[in-house]
Amino acid sequence: MTIRRATAIGPANIAFVKYWGVQDAALTLPYNESLSMNLDRCLTTTTVEFDPALNADEVTLKLHGQDEQPATGRPFDRVAAQLDRVRALANIETQARVRSENNFPSDAGIASSAAAFSALTLAAVAALGVDLSERELSVLTRRSGSGSACRSIPTGFVYWRNDGTDAGSYAESVAPPEHWALADVVAVVDPGVKSVTSADNHRLTATSPYFPVRLQEVLGRVEQTLTAIRDRDLGQLGAICEADAVSMHVVSMTAIPPTFYWNAGTMAVIHGLRRWRNEGLFGYFTIDAGPNVHVICAQQDAAEIEQRLRALPEVQFTIANGPGAGARIVEQG
Ligand code: PMV
Repeated sequence: MTIRRATAIGPANIAFVKYWGVQDAALTLPYNESLSMNLDRCLTTTTVEFDPALNADEVTLKLHGQDEQPATGRPFDRVAAQLDRVRALANIETQARVRSENNFPSDAGIASSAAAFSALTLAAVAALGVDLSERELSVLTRRSGSGSACRSIPTGFVYWRNDGTDAGSYAESVAPPEHWALADVVAVVDPGVKSVTSADNHRLTATSPYFPVRLQEVLGRVEQTLTAIRDRDLGQLGAICEADAVSMHVVSMTAIPPTFYWNAGTMAVIHGLRRWRNEGLFGYFTIDAGPNVHVICAQQDAAEIEQRLRALPEVQFTIANGPGAGARIVEQG
């Protein structure tokens, strides 16, 4: 029996309309549809080796700025559970060695789990030679528990469709990366691990009295975002991003128990952007499950925005991204 191996790269993605709330946690089925852009600079590289000599899965993580270390507890269990899903498809029981490396801070609202689980799923599927369409791969990636990872499979600008069924909850590309010279400049105000995981918070959304309001709003926003992407309309996209991020965080702040992801640095960036817009420099905020701010702007303005962000005392560093490709295999066999 031989070792079967593949290495994949998975991108983080930034949602313009957020996935917030899971209606079926076992299948990771969201309440609402969402839309995102893959990031070309925030990447996870994962190698999966199915080795008949192993008695148990082994997972090592090399997180940004840290030494390589074995995964234990919940991170290990989530990886092993996803490997089990792939093994079931391939009808084998061989255990695997997984090595994963991130080039950006983890668990800080930069979609590290989306990058990680898209890379893991693709590498495992490729190593075992499981034949899946892109849609099936996206469904399988969604089931990992990091739902937004399904949006890191297709390329460029991505729409996570959801009809509430397993097969009907998948992501597809609505435009390639070169469609729009957009940037996401991530302003890191705290690179530390966030207090409450999105996985935990997805289960609490329905406790917020504002959640039904959010679900109503999102219906229109998905349509408007598709139009804004098609027309490359930054003003329209920016307004949607900001409204949707605020709506998501209102739900988080009013859930039982509540979570406050924003800190003083988050607010400093928001106020900075509003000032700069009055001066004719157009950047718009969106914020995932953490304090760091993603600034959506035209690529031609990214350098100026990055410079101004870095001048804010609250900003520790920035990461400028363009639209990126989806998960891809870089080595196999
Ligand atoms: O896929 P998860 O469980 O990591 O949740 C992602 C949640 C947000 O990043 C806040 C929103 C989104 O759609 O990416």
